[in-house]
Amino acid sequence: MPSAVHVRPATADDASAVATIYNHGIAERQATFETHARSAKEVAAWLEEGRPFLVATASDGTILGFARLSPYSVRKAYAGIGEHGIYVDPQARGRGVGKLLLQELAAAAEQAGYYKLTSRVFTTNHASLALHRSAGFTEVGIQRRHGRLDGEWKDTMLVERLLGDAAR
Ligand SMILES: CC(C)(COP(=O)(O)OP(=O)(O)OC[C@H]1O[C@@H](n2cnc3c(N)ncnc32)[C@H](O)[C@@H]1OP(=O)(O)O)[C@@H](O)C(=O)NCCC(=O)NCCS
Repeated sequence: MPSAVHVRPATADDASAVATIYNHGIAERQATFETHARSAKEVAAWLEEGRPFLVATASDGTILGFARLSPYSVRKAYAGIGEHGIYVDPQARGRGVGKLLLQELAAAAEQAGYYKLTSRVFTTNHASLALHRSAGFTEVGIQRRHGRLDGEWKDTMLVERLLGDAAR
């Protein structure tokens, strides 16, 4: 990975670049069941929710990718579980940016009191499966036909990583 890559908390000024990277991920149809593009304003609203939300930047400040937490469940018992999303600009992939972001997100989540990160990865998303394995996530199992994307059933791999005391 280029040593110039830096990870920091996202700010409102990053919203437009984050939206562009996320919308590219939506268009690729490998990362999410979401199909409608998000605006910078919608991304700014995510930021205002106050959960861990990081961006990776190049030395010139260009946003290379982002990782963020959203709530796993409305149930109080699961308040310490975060569902994460991670997206890297296509031009910056395969250089360790995703792994750095995911490791830093886990550290930020632990610092914020979360005890687990979890996500569902399409079983066809080999890059994300490799990333999660490499970043210490366990593959819990495959959830068959977990949703439809463009009318086609998708299987998802449930991945998780324990944090802090829960990991010991
Ligand atoms: C998944 C994604 C975030 C990975 O980011 P990245 O910066 O390219 O990943 P990294 O370079 O940090 O690689 C992490 C590990 O995954 C492996 N990997 C990355 N892309 C891979 C690919 N296409 N095929 C196989 N392995 C791959 C790397 O070799 C590395 O393994 P290692 O640590 O054992 O050497 C990126 O491909 C992406 O943004 N995809 C579109 C959005 C998406 O799918 N998000 C995840 C939704 S669940």
